Amino acid sequence: MTSQTLQQIDQGKAEAFAQGILGILNSGAIALMVSIGHRTRLFDTLAQLPPSTSQQIADSAGLNERYVREWLGSMVTGGIVEYDPSDRTYCLPPEHSLFLTRSADTNIAATVQFIPILATVEDQIIECFYKGGGVPYSAYKRFHQVMAEESDQTVVEALLDHILPLVPGLVEALQSGIDVLDIGCGSGHAMNMLAQTFPQSRFTGYDFSNEAIATAKTEAQKLDLNNVQFQVKDAATIDEIDRYDLITTFDAIHDQAKPDVVLHAIAQALRPDGTYLMQDIRASSYVEGNLEHPAAPYLYTVSCMHCMTVSLAMNGAGLGAVWGEEKALEMLQEAGFTNVEVKRLDHDLHNNYYIVKKSSL
Ligand SMILES: C[S@@+](CC[C@H](N)C(=O)[O-])C[C@H]1O[C@@H](n2cnc3c(N)ncnc32)[C@H](O)[C@@H]1O
Repeated sequence: MTSQTLQQIDQGKAEAFAQGILGILNSGAIALMVSIGHRTRLFDTLAQLPPSTSQQIADSAGLNERYVREWLGSMVTGGIVEYDPSDRTYCLPPEHSLFLTRSADTNIAATVQFIPILATVEDQIIECFYKGGGVPYSAYKRFHQVMAEESDQTVVEALLDHILPLVPGLVEALQSGIDVLDIGCGSGHAMNMLAQTFPQSRFTGYDFSNEAIATAKTEAQKLDLNNVQFQVKDAATIDEIDRYDLITTFDAIHDQAKPDVVLHAIAQALRPDGTYLMQDIRASSYVEGNLEHPAAPYLYTVSCMHCMTVSLAMNGAGLGAVWGEEKALEMLQEAGFTNVEVKRLDHDLHNNYYIVKKSSL
């Protein structure tokens, strides 16, 4: 750096940034440990224990004490777990367990698992920075499992009380009996839960992942459901006409290779008075519109290292997770939907709910 540049440096700004970047280093490291805390059930264990030593915690969780103690060091200095040096005990305050345990309404620790998942494909992503192209779905080993955990929180648990009531008359229609299709259904929990709740209706789930569809079918069998079917199918090949009363996509349009084709197929497959319910990322299509978005850095990162790249891996559009509301509305209109309402739900800060009717209405 030249002496002239050094003279121009705002020292206060530089020192503030140094603090910020150190915070980023610490937060990134803590994220890896939060994921481990979720997967080993250490947070669930801690939430049940009185202040305990590392040995007591390790014994309760059935884990190795030396690893648990190092993890606790990260959690204490990271402000997640509290420590009493007088008797070397650790405790998870109830205010923190509200966001970290499986019984929590919003378990952020489950979402944090995406950080180490993304890190596993860093080498391939860097190659794409040089050569273009993308990283395929198959490269993400635990994606479907973690995605199912995530959508259990945002979709499955909220369907009956919050999501379905967004569409007037939908619950009554499901009770009477309608045809429902979920595209990009993943592990199928949403359709299985609806099939169980509404025995008069018929449910179909399409996903192009063999692994996800196998999980969905196994669950349907376990629940002894005969009004739901799952099929391995590329959404871009759907060729059905006036077949469904309700079509849903949960977080499943922005990472499509051919989102325009899929939206047209949905318009075609929907009956004239049917509803398309699209849950997709709440953001602006423009960086400047996301400056105040509380999760924007996370969303752009997930997009670059997953949603955008899986689409580009198939020579797709690469819309990315932050395709944004403006682009979503434009594409829905291009697909022939002119009757679109955008709704939001308190439990789901990351998504919009687009209630979409066929243009003929
Ligand atoms: C972000 S995940 C959401 C999964 C599920 N809807 C949920 O909420 O858990 C997107 C899903 O879309 C599926 N998918 C992506 N492109 C697809 C395509 N062209 N045809 C069918 N499924 C596709 C993926 O396999 C994945 O399961």
